[in-house]
Amino acid sequence: MQNKIDYEAKIKSILISEEKIKKALKAEGERISREYEGKPLLLVSVLKGAFVFMADLCREITIPCEIAFMCAESYYEGTVSSGKVNITMDLKQDISEYNVIIVEDIVDTGRTLSEVVEIFRSRNPLSLSVVTLLDKPERRVVKFEPDVALFTIPDRFVIGYGLDCGEYYRNLPYIAEYNAE
Ligand code: IMP
Ligand code: MG
Repeated sequence: MQNKIDYEAKIKSILISEEKIKKALKAEGERISREYEGKPLLLVSVLKGAFVFMADLCREITIPCEIAFMCAESYYEGTVSSGKVNITMDLKQDISEYNVIIVEDIVDTGRTLSEVVEIFRSRNPLSLSVVTLLDKPERRVVKFEPDVALFTIPDRFVIGYGLDCGEYYRNLPYIAEYNAE
């Protein structure tokens, strides 16, 4: 276990405050509620990073919706993610009856999400879109654009609000830059 002094020293600076996140989620919740009114809606997150975003975003949605989680493992070639995804816990729903929104924490190289989107498309949902909290477009190696990105950030490693470094910091209520030194 990490000691508290080292733990805190790694939190370099707050990049996105709780207030900013809350405001962006409120607006996105309103948009989703307007756009999907009267339609069967399923929000899906791939664990674990998006669990905080999902919990807060779904509470800004005022129309009926279902929530589901998937677990996926990325295969690595050395230290580089291959983009090949193995689903270790799948959905129970037949998504062909739903408008699906994939709720994601961050799009980095785009490898994981482009693979996940392929898997979802093959199951023929009524519609499919991707809402991500963060986007790091400078890091993209595959052609992939989320439909909605609430914040675009530079090429920095970030922690908090569900995002981890070595499984720590997911419980920070804001997004911070990680101090690698
Ligand atoms: P991609 O396949 O490279 O887009 O990988 C996305 C995944 O890498 C995310 O779902 C995160 O789990 C992880 N990731 C990418 N950038 C960061 C970061 O800055 N902080 C924490 N996790 C990150
Ligand atoms: Mg993730």
